Amino acid sequence: VNPSLDLFQEIERLKKEKNAILLAHYYQEPDIQDVADYIGDSLGLAQQAAKTDADIIVFAGVHFMAETAKILNPNKKVLLPDLKAGCSLADSAPAELFRRFKEKYPDHLVVSYINCSAEIKALSDIICTSGNAEKIIESIPEDQPIIFAPDKNLGGYLNRKTGRNMVLWNGACMVHEIFSLEKIMKLKMRNPKAKLVAHPECEEAILRISDFIGSTTQLLKFVVKDDAQEYIVATETGILHQMQQDAPTKTLIPAPPNNSCACNDCPHMKLNTLEKLYLCMEYETPEIHMDEKLRLASLRPIERMLDISR
Ligand code: 13P
Ligand code: SF4
Repeated sequence: VNPSLDLFQEIERLKKEKNAILLAHYYQEPDIQDVADYIGDSLGLAQQAAKTDADIIVFAGVHFMAETAKILNPNKKVLLPDLKAGCSLADSAPAELFRRFKEKYPDHLVVSYINCSAEIKALSDIICTSGNAEKIIESIPEDQPIIFAPDKNLGGYLNRKTGRNMVLWNGACMVHEIFSLEKIMKLKMRNPKAKLVAHPECEEAILRISDFIGSTTQLLKFVVKDDAQEYIVATETGILHQMQQDAPTKTLIPAPPNNSCACNDCPHMKLNTLEKLYLCMEYETPEIHMDEKLRLASLRPIERMLDISR
C-alpha cells in the first residue's frame, strides 16, 4: 500500500462507492473501530448483518462472525480482511467429534454459542451469544435436557445462573482463560474501590469474584452507567478503547494475565489491520463463500436465536 494514502479517507470513499457497510467487533484495533459504521458484540453484529441493505458487508472480526453474516445474506458479498482470523473457541469443537458426542445424548436439545463453525451450527437447535444466552436458555422448558457447546466457562456460568444441568462441551477461549486469579485479587486489594467486570468466557474462579458479568456491549454499558471510578476489566483489551471514549473520567485497568509474557489480546482478532481492511475493500477479497446446503442448515438455529432476541 502506498504509504502516502490516507487509509481512513480511502475506506470512507470505498464504503460510499461500493455501498458497503463496515461492521467491527469491540476487540478490533482502535483505528478499525473508529472507521466502522457499527461496533458491537456478537449479537449486535448479527442483528446488524440481518437487517442491512448494503451490497457488501465488510466484517472486521473473526471468521465465524463473517460466516454468520454470509449465512444471513447469501446474495451479498461478505468480506473478511484476513481469512486466517479464526477463533480458538470455535476450533475447540471439530464437527465430526461433536456429531459423535451429540449421538450419546439423543434426547438433548443443542444450544451452541455463536463462536463455532457453520458445521456446528448446523448440528444445533438454537444459537446464542453471551448477550442473550440466559434468555435463550430460559426460553427452553425446564425439563428439556440440553447440550451446551462449545464454551465450558459460559456453559458453567449459565448452569449456575439458571439452575440447569446442561451437558457441557469441553471448549474454551484462549484469551479469557489467561487471567490470573491471584494477580486480580492482589490488584483488588491495592485498589479496593475498583470493581471487577468480566466476560462469561472467563473461568469460574474469576467470575465468582466479579462485580458484573456480561457480553462486551453489556460490560461497556455497565462501566458507563455505574457510579464507581475504577474498573478492572477481564476481557480482551480492544474493549478498553470504546470504554475510555464513553467513560473518559474513569480509570480502566486491564485484568492481568497469569504469565507476564502473555497479553490479553486475541491473536485472531488482531490479525486484521487497517491496511488489510483497505485492501480487502479495494479488491473485494478475501470473500466468504458457503455451500448452500450447509448455509440453510446453519441458518435455522440462527433465525431461532434472532426471533427470541427481538
Ligand atoms: P461478545 O462480544 O458477544 O461478548 O463476544 C466476545 C468474544 O469473545 C467474541 O469473540
Ligand atoms: Fe475466539 Fe476468544 Fe478470540 Fe473471541 S477472544 S475470537 S472467543 S479466541
